[in-house]
Amino acid sequence: MNILLLGSGGREHALAWKLAQSSLCDKLFASPGNPGVAHYAELVALDVTDHGAVLAYCEAQRIGLVVVGPEAPLVDGLADSLRAAGVPVFGPSKAAAQLEGSKAFTKELCARHAIPTAGFKRVTSADEGLTALDSFPIPVVIKADGLAAGKGVTVAMTRAEAETALAEIFDGRFGAAGAEAVIEEFMEGEEASFFALTDGHTVVPFGSAQDHKRVGDGDTGPNTGGMGAYSPAPVLTPLLEGEALERIVVPTVRAMADEGMPYSGVLYAGLMLTPEGVKLIEYNCRFGDPECQVLMLRLEADLGELMLAVAENRLAALQPPRFSADTALTVVIAAQGYPDTPTAGGAIAGIARAEAGGAKVFHAGTRLEGGALVASGGRVLNVTARGNSVGAAQAAAYAAVDMVDFAEGFCRRDIGWREVVREQRG
Ligand code: AMP
Ligand code: GLY
Repeated sequence: MNILLLGSGGREHALAWKLAQSSLCDKLFASPGNPGVAHYAELVALDVTDHGAVLAYCEAQRIGLVVVGPEAPLVDGLADSLRAAGVPVFGPSKAAAQLEGSKAFTKELCARHAIPTAGFKRVTSADEGLTALDSFPIPVVIKADGLAAGKGVTVAMTRAEAETALAEIFDGRFGAAGAEAVIEEFMEGEEASFFALTDGHTVVPFGSAQDHKRVGDGDTGPNTGGMGAYSPAPVLTPLLEGEALERIVVPTVRAMADEGMPYSGVLYAGLMLTPEGVKLIEYNCRFGDPECQVLMLRLEADLGELMLAVAENRLAALQPPRFSADTALTVVIAAQGYPDTPTAGGAIAGIARAEAGGAKVFHAGTRLEGGALVASGGRVLNVTARGNSVGAAQAAAYAAVDMVDFAEGFCRRDIGWREVVREQRG
């Protein structure tokens, strides 16, 4: 069958690489893709907000499966339009994508179904927020309700910071995403990401990861989309993973089906491992970026087969996916200035050299300029490698990073540090 993959980042390069290996994949198309995706796919410029245009393209190219990488088209209902026309799609409906698209929706769902998460209050004005703040201890967490490109969350260490965050949300900093805010109790613990595939009924675990959100070594500086990740995350022990599945993910999938909005696709649960047990921080309705890159490097199953089974509601009939026991670790090379104002246009070379030792270099923000590869985004490359420990994967990834020639780029030098320290302690 022909497959159409939507998105343009490192996540989509990793998905394209795996989909191209699928026994079901005749021809892969991608929109808009990037120069890395172009190794495996024919690129096409589609306007994903124009559902009719995407449908027409699917019909013209006889697309048998659409894979939606990023959240925005899902929250916008693209999967509904495709499904209504009979095109199999990997990704949730608009109603189900509210799990990412509205923090308040998810918190209310958790409350209705006793799913463990931080206590919360919804507020619709700064004044209401200020009053509500009185009932929360500090630190406290303030979130814009809607999609805010990862920038809508403030962990406020003082009341003043919390007040500023509320004022910014209701001053319109996040547009419609800030029409409502959620105030949350601060949870203490280590974070881990847990992924599950579901067709709305069957749920299969799809690996764990930990990412590094801060821009600087030692987890310092401003938040980013993620400066690196590794999988699996040993902190999410089999016992804790079981707890997350039984108390959080499965009840969520069941609740969504019971409430008439079955969730289909990958469900990405951001978890806090607290002294009182595993709690949900948030859901995403798509793969993480760069978490997807490390999952794909470990996946030993046919991704196309899995995604089509999800799209066609027959996940139960498949063998559960297998992952290598190795650790995969990815280092994001970003353009100088990221996350504020990344420098565009920096020349990139040395990718083939970096891959010669077995690493994979996924393109996250690159473009071709007169045949030469240059930077075109904040996060530019994801240098990804495997090893039989986090330390070994880290060493392999950084050896490959050092082969890349990108003078206007930078990366963190400590991706995986928490786990490397634990390994060294034994
Ligand atoms: P989110 O976009 O909801 O994942 O939030 C971004 C980050 O803020 C998370 O990865 C956590 O580090 C932090 N965070 C969000 N909610 C909480 C909470 N209730 N308690 C502590 N930290 C939180
Ligand atoms: N790396 C975090 C995310 O994809 O949301």
